[in-house]
Amino acid sequence: EKGAFPHYMLKEIFEQPNSLRNAMRGRLSRDDGTAILGGLNMTPQELRGVDRIILSGCGTAFHAAMVGEYVIETLARVPTEVEIASEFRYRNVPADKNTLQFVLSQSGETIDTLAAMREARRKGIKCLGIVNSVGSTIARESDGGCYIHAGPEIGVAATKTFTSQVMIMTLLGMLFGRIHHLSSADGMEMIDELEAIPDKIASILTQTDRIKAIAEKHANAEGMLFMGRQANYPVAMEGALKMKEISYIYASGHPSAELKHGVIALVKPDMPSVFIAPDDAVFDKNVSNIEEVLARKGPVICVTTEGRTELERLTDDVIYVPDCPSYLSPLLTVIPLQLLSYYTAVARGCDVDKPRNLAKSVTVE
Ligand code: M6R
Repeated sequence: EKGAFPHYMLKEIFEQPNSLRNAMRGRLSRDDGTAILGGLNMTPQELRGVDRIILSGCGTAFHAAMVGEYVIETLARVPTEVEIASEFRYRNVPADKNTLQFVLSQSGETIDTLAAMREARRKGIKCLGIVNSVGSTIARESDGGCYIHAGPEIGVAATKTFTSQVMIMTLLGMLFGRIHHLSSADGMEMIDELEAIPDKIASILTQTDRIKAIAEKHANAEGMLFMGRQANYPVAMEGALKMKEISYIYASGHPSAELKHGVIALVKPDMPSVFIAPDDAVFDKNVSNIEEVLARKGPVICVTTEGRTELERLTDDVIYVPDCPSYLSPLLTVIPLQLLSYYTAVARGCDVDKPRNLAKSVTVE
């Protein structure tokens, strides 16, 4: 039940510290500095033989897969490709016996994702499911996998299942990293960082008043642009999807540097740009992009790391998240974007939990 929350979506956003603890529970081995994912049904030898990973999903799960590509390649250096599930089934993606495919799906029933899995298995590619619904079709038909244990998600907009899928991607990165070049000391440090994430999310959730005020200020925008780099590029896409889906404001997510290749033509006073610009190796690059937007009279909303107060010289609308390693950043930066879309939708009087034209689970093509 919703309890004290006016909508399931808000309740589910607030469940994230706990849903992430559940996604990690029993899966971190401090002794070996690695992840334990027994449901993959693969021996260390088989895992070591994997030389290519394919990740597939739709909508939010596709964005989690994009973060997965970044995290797995960063931590494990195993070439990883994301194929949107609806395209995978109609393409002939190169794969061989050393390729491992993962399909990501909250419901485990999305027809395109299911079809991508069936197509992969028909070709003899091993396919594992990253699923929330226990006993769903993908969970039953896959060669194994990993439940995300996020608990029921009722709101049509996926929130806690995104962060839990990203968490599993990180555990996979760690697992593959540890059978290649990461040391056990690296692994142990990662475990400390992972275990700190739930409390960091809880601290972001104390800032709802500020995020609500920013949302209300921009609620009549004609459209919104979302920009990020590296693992925060998929977060930009996810922020834009949430905004479209529940507030019906047209929004799109881009790599920040694409601005000058076309997107900047859209910048104007009623088209805010949301920058995901944490304190990382590309912070200064994001700041130049922010300045380009401001110079064209586009309002800017920033999500950045605590301490980066210099952004307040550029815009009033700065939202802070705690510091963390850059490969974990999406787990924190997406939270303000979920809240931004939520409060925008509420301000616009939209039916947050049941947006028009959408179903929770898309079982037709
Ligand atoms: O159940 P699935 O994870 O397979 O669903 C995939 C998409 O339909 C889903 O993520 C959709 O994009 C959400 N409504 C986004 O909030």
